[in-house]
Amino acid sequence: GAPVKADISKLEPGQMVVVEWRGKPVYVVRRTEEQVAGLNELTQYLKDPESNGSDQPTYVETITRSIRPEFLVLVGLCTHLGCAPKHHPEVGVPDLGGKSWLGGFFCPCHGSRFDLAGRVYQGSPASQNLVVPPYSFEGNSVLVIG
Ligand code: FES
Repeated sequence: GAPVKADISKLEPGQMVVVEWRGKPVYVVRRTEEQVAGLNELTQYLKDPESNGSDQPTYVETITRSIRPEFLVLVGLCTHLGCAPKHHPEVGVPDLGGKSWLGGFFCPCHGSRFDLAGRVYQGSPASQNLVVPPYSFEGNSVLVIG
């Protein structure tokens, strides 16, 4: 299929847009600096913190899983059984039973939890991180998926 372009110039820090690519929803999230910094704190809570067993392009950075740290690009399908995880940018939602939740994605079907890099938390039915599709940028305002 042909690559899909998305204008990301109006995406505010903390916001997400959904772009369709090859019949799949692709989540594009603009992370705040605080959210990016928080990704380093989570290793011990994650199943695959460096995405060794998960699907992402070789050119993304290991922890942020991105080309530019502020922009996260993910296929919005749970790696468990394919439901659409919900974006929860807020700290503390949903409750992790006392563990700090720094925001991320929560799958309503069976309760898989992912951080703001799409990395799956321990205790989730999903085993792999959310998929990062191939993508690139054209200048500062255009994201090209595919
Ligand atoms: Fe997401 Fe099962 S499909 S937890």
